[in-house]
Amino acid sequence: MRTHLTRRVFIRSAAASSVALGWLGNRSTPPLLAAEASRPALLGGTPVHKGGWAKWPEWLEVWEPDLLNVWRSGKWFRGSGSHVEEFEKGYAQLLGAQACLATASGTTALIVALHAMEVDAGDEVIVSPYTFIASYNAILANMALPVFADTDPATLTIDPASIESRITERTRAIMPVHIFGMPCEMEPIIQLARKHQLAVVEDACQAWLAEYRGRKCGTLGDLGCFSFQESKHIPSGEGGAIASLNPERIDKCNSYHNCGRACGSNKGNGFFTRGNNYRMTQAQAVILSHQLDKLVKQTAVRQANADYLSTRLAQIPGITPVRLPEQSRAVWHLYPFRYDATQFHGLSRDKFAKAMTAEGIPCGGIYHEQYDDGLLDEAIASRGFKRLWSSERLKAYRDSFRELRGNKQVCETTVAFTQNLLLAEREAMEHIVEAIHKIQTHSEALGKTG
Ligand SMILES: Cc1ncc(COP(=O)(O)O)c(C=O)c1O
Repeated sequence: MRTHLTRRVFIRSAAASSVALGWLGNRSTPPLLAAEASRPALLGGTPVHKGGWAKWPEWLEVWEPDLLNVWRSGKWFRGSGSHVEEFEKGYAQLLGAQACLATASGTTALIVALHAMEVDAGDEVIVSPYTFIASYNAILANMALPVFADTDPATLTIDPASIESRITERTRAIMPVHIFGMPCEMEPIIQLARKHQLAVVEDACQAWLAEYRGRKCGTLGDLGCFSFQESKHIPSGEGGAIASLNPERIDKCNSYHNCGRACGSNKGNGFFTRGNNYRMTQAQAVILSHQLDKLVKQTAVRQANADYLSTRLAQIPGITPVRLPEQSRAVWHLYPFRYDATQFHGLSRDKFAKAMTAEGIPCGGIYHEQYDDGLLDEAIASRGFKRLWSSERLKAYRDSFRELRGNKQVCETTVAFTQNLLLAEREAMEHIVEAIHKIQTHSEALGKTG
């Protein structure tokens, strides 16, 4: 059995089996207390972590004057002031992008980016099934079909080797998702896209400042999309952005997100092109600009804690941290690992998560097999989709979900912590390790709880 106990963990785990010894050697620790510390909190013991975790989202009073100024000025909409453009410049600079467009949300960023890359009614887009549902929905909103590739259980991201077999004459784009802020293996994806003349729209909605081979996620494909929704590392309630190394593509995005008006190189008179209103407001941009430095600093803290956790958790049988592509840096919107119940006396993942939560360390399973939820059945049964694809294609499409490799396994065995846990002190990372050891030691008894 691979185990590595720190002194603190060792003392706590040893306490249960050597209560009498402990009591003889250290008269200040009554045996009852020592036993309680080693017992899982779910079975009446003391939680390992009692300090709570950083509240999220964070609010700093120093932001308030700028925000109040916007509200008091009555200049709230993008076109009435310069805050949105200032944020776009700052964010583009941070990413090393040539241009950036702020949007109302990550979902609208994806919808706009796909449209700008000419994903049209009846097209197909290859995407990872292991993602937030917005990745599916943005493709459907463009009246295109989200075609799923396999999920690599080691990385939780799209398996590049499975993409080519999904390409049909309708395929227009590949949408890799850097899920939980972990970069996809982009090189083979980009090579494949070039070979088949496909667009690459990165769903970097959870990957602000993540890096792949020295470049930031969201600048690796044709367009990259981000979310600034409340739970995100740089939140503004709702909000999003599209980044690119190609400013003309961003001009095209700008036109579509602004009711079809001309923008920069995308010239025309009046409403010369289709468009919608997916604009960011001034107030959102003020809050976001204030958080750029904080994003950089907190990313470094999360990365250092995640590196430490990964080394420690890899030593626990039944816990497998994710594998990242070489020369990449994840930013950990969630910190995931794979859980093998057989190493925990068959303790179910849900019970494991419940026991961890009782120890003061909230965690849980994340995405399920969402393609079975009904939205895709509804889409392919709709008049529009039936007009756009043959019934044979739609049937084969629906049947293909059953053949997906890796995704079911990943959905069923992944456990994750939220990002705010990674902002804590190193001692709290030890609490996480210690709680898992405790649960493993008592997994048989925990399995008998309701
Ligand atoms: C992977 C992924 N894609 C897209 C989105 C959509 O972003 P938003 O909620 O800002 O619309 C999210 C948001 O959680 C996401 O996590």
